[in-house]
Amino acid sequence: MRDADPQPVRLTDYRPPDWLVDTVDLDVRLHPQATRVVVRLGMRPNPLGRPGAPIVLDGDELELKSVALDGAPLAGAGYAATPSSLTILAPPQDPLVLTIETVLDPSANTKLMGLYCSSGTYCTQCEAEGFRRITYFPDRPDVLAVYTTRIEAECEEAPVLLGNGNKVDSGDVEGTTRHFAVWHDPWPKPCYLFALVGGKLDRITEPFVTATGKEVELGIYVEPGKAGRAGYAMDALKRSMRWDEEVFGCEYDLDVFNIVAVADFNMGAMENKGLNVFNDKYVLASPETATDADYANIEAIIAHEYFHNWTGNRITCRDWFQLCLKEGLTVFRDQEFSSDQRSRPVKRIADVRLLKSHQFAEDAGPLAHPVRPATYREINNFYTATVYEKGAEVVRMLKTLLSEEGFRAGMDLYFDRHDGQAATVEEFLTCFADANGADLSQFALWYAQSGTPQVEVNGHWDAAARSYRLDVRQTQVPTPGQPDKQPMLIPLALGLVGADGRDLPLVPHDGTNAAGSVLVVSRPEQSFVFRDVEARPVPSINRGFSAPVKLTTNLASEDLLFLARHDTDPFNRFEAGQTLALAHLVSASGLAPEKTSAGPPSGGGTALVEALIEALGASLEDETLDPAFIAQVLSVPSEGDIAREIGSEVDPDAIHAARRSLRRALGEALRPGLERAYGRHAPDGAYSPDAVSAGRRALRNAALELMASTGEAADIARALAHFETADNMTDRFFALSVLAHHAPAERDAALDAFYQRFRDDPLVIDKWLALQAQIAEPETLERVRELTRHPAFSMGNPNRVRALIGNFAAANQTQFHRPDGAGHLFVADAVLELDRRNPQVAARLLGAFKSWRSLEPTRRGSAERALRRIADGPGLSPDVSDIVARSLG
Ligand code: PHE
Ligand code: ZN
Repeated sequence: MRDADPQPVRLTDYRPPDWLVDTVDLDVRLHPQATRVVVRLGMRPNPLGRPGAPIVLDGDELELKSVALDGAPLAGAGYAATPSSLTILAPPQDPLVLTIETVLDPSANTKLMGLYCSSGTYCTQCEAEGFRRITYFPDRPDVLAVYTTRIEAECEEAPVLLGNGNKVDSGDVEGTTRHFAVWHDPWPKPCYLFALVGGKLDRITEPFVTATGKEVELGIYVEPGKAGRAGYAMDALKRSMRWDEEVFGCEYDLDVFNIVAVADFNMGAMENKGLNVFNDKYVLASPETATDADYANIEAIIAHEYFHNWTGNRITCRDWFQLCLKEGLTVFRDQEFSSDQRSRPVKRIADVRLLKSHQFAEDAGPLAHPVRPATYREINNFYTATVYEKGAEVVRMLKTLLSEEGFRAGMDLYFDRHDGQAATVEEFLTCFADANGADLSQFALWYAQSGTPQVEVNGHWDAAARSYRLDVRQTQVPTPGQPDKQPMLIPLALGLVGADGRDLPLVPHDGTNAAGSVLVVSRPEQSFVFRDVEARPVPSINRGFSAPVKLTTNLASEDLLFLARHDTDPFNRFEAGQTLALAHLVSASGLAPEKTSAGPPSGGGTALVEALIEALGASLEDETLDPAFIAQVLSVPSEGDIAREIGSEVDPDAIHAARRSLRRALGEALRPGLERAYGRHAPDGAYSPDAVSAGRRALRNAALELMASTGEAADIARALAHFETADNMTDRFFALSVLAHHAPAERDAALDAFYQRFRDDPLVIDKWLALQAQIAEPETLERVRELTRHPAFSMGNPNRVRALIGNFAAANQTQFHRPDGAGHLFVADAVLELDRRNPQVAARLLGAFKSWRSLEPTRRGSAERALRRIADGPGLSPDVSDIVARSLG
């Protein structure tokens, strides 16, 4: 067991390991309750470590059987062993071989870290610190070794045996019912990338020829009977491999690449070298069972894990503080891949939506932390939106600042210089500085300072001087542990839009720091002046969301309306409408905003709604626009976005009501256009998951929902027909959710029909659970409580828990934050129960409380009581105790 209240780990305390491991030879004899692991570690003292240091290895819940040094059994006096560490007290200061035998119980492993069983399949999860649950080892990413793994199991129980690297041997164990396979991975790697799998699995396989003509065998392994649903993942894998060659010059480096889909997994997927292990939700898809969003996620996550082969595996992290080095960069890479495969503007809009809803919320609350944290108590709690999504934004800004070519030159140098190493963020940035002759010292603050920078931009046209001036002010808000901050380097992409809707040429005045069309903001206050501006333009600021900041401007509603119709930058065209909607929703929620993005001085409620309807109506009728883009334009800001904009004293019921009535107003006012869009985008053939077809469905379904939000009988009937005639999960599930939210009378029958049809399909049942947890009515809590006792639900499966309880807590603001506190209490008790079984999943669920301080007093009080109840819980895991302490801190 680990210490429940461990000392914080600090970045500044880093020192190199005292001992290095060159080779790891594992012999794993799989057994459901008693798996025996024998490891032979080829070790030597690290010249950079402390001379004469003992060998200290990490362990977790291990049972030690024996230790030998250079083949000779080591007596008890030679070492000190506990379940959490093994110390070789006075080792010779020479290369040596340490042999350790341990036993572990995979079927008792409910944390799903280390070696565990998922529906009868043996699998492993080692990141971040799970390898120490398989054997004693220096469990840190800067110890790189070459692994050879022999796996042995009952032929019947596990006919398929997989490891990292290439298979070098296999056969039956003579005189037994067992067999074995030996896998060798020639690339030195940290232990968090180790994996093995044993089970009864079906497989699909395809060849891939790399850019230089090497043949790779690709395999996807799934539960028996599910191979028919792995085709899209295979297709996405091949496209990812080609794309990485073409765009980053990265080629695959083993003879095989395997993916295994398992039903019980704490996260999305894991990039183990040559053997990715996936949550099956991100592998399995068929038109009948997966939505367009599922297909898009599969494509993105298959790509993400594959891209880690270079950004994460070939170059790994020196320590866990550098997590963003692999994650932020790899998210950026998968975003770019999806942008190239689909619509770039729509992908950008979706990514920014996600960033705002998850990362901005994190940055605004007690769990805020830098992209590269300086301290942690539990590393599992730092797989966050900040490390991943904001980390990707920082890489994107680097590209904006250095241009396409400069960015690629930096990446090339990074691969060249650090291949085979465990690197740091500083080393990464130095490659870009060196390749471009750039000074990135101020830019590096993006890794160190937490919180979302606020940027205020006021534009002024000087008719006499024929110039346009933008006054920019940046403010860094205090965040936990960071009361004072320095000004940052902020790239603001800019356009000055003329009356005809076209961009004016940008002619910077002397001394104005603009690189092309990007303002480079570096000081707390700074002005940028452009010459030869004959008429008052409308500035389009932070185009493409070039910097992850909270922007406020002096644009009037008419200006936003103009941008919503004319901006050539699709992101800002979308954003202009969102800003108008948000301004209306904040005031309609009946509370004074702390600061609204749109500051239309005279814009009262109705004027704003009229402007918004006009803007959305124009987009809806514009046949030159991509339907997927129009669907994004039509979707009003989320309840969470509105709450964040309001900032304090938040009343989720008022927000919900305001949002609902805006959608009803849109449904009524835009009805003719919505009806036309619904008709125009009716399916014209068999389902295909491609982006264009998905975009048409997205718009058609958005229209369906806006019309149904009026509650008119004809609209509900349309939704019911849509549900009953759908030939794919996207349409069927969308219609079901429209019914669930807008048609109380039709709801139960539809939910039941859906359940009966898909009852044997856990991934579809997750959708059914999630939807019921999201209904904004007081009966929901009792329904969720009942569903926890439904045979389809299990506290042991992370996907079920996230679908039901996770969605209740994170995607049902009115019911989670019920004024009577029952929602908070329910989630608190679920966290406590779950913590005994799976601390990582429990801690993540607890993250739903992250914005509790911005609630109005009654709800704030009940959230605090729930948090204190958790804090007082007996025997909390380090995961939950860390989150609860920071949430209350
Ligand atoms: N490294 C994985 C990814 O982002 C995420 C992960 C972390 C999976 C920890 C499991 C455990 O690709
Ligand atoms: Zn990753």
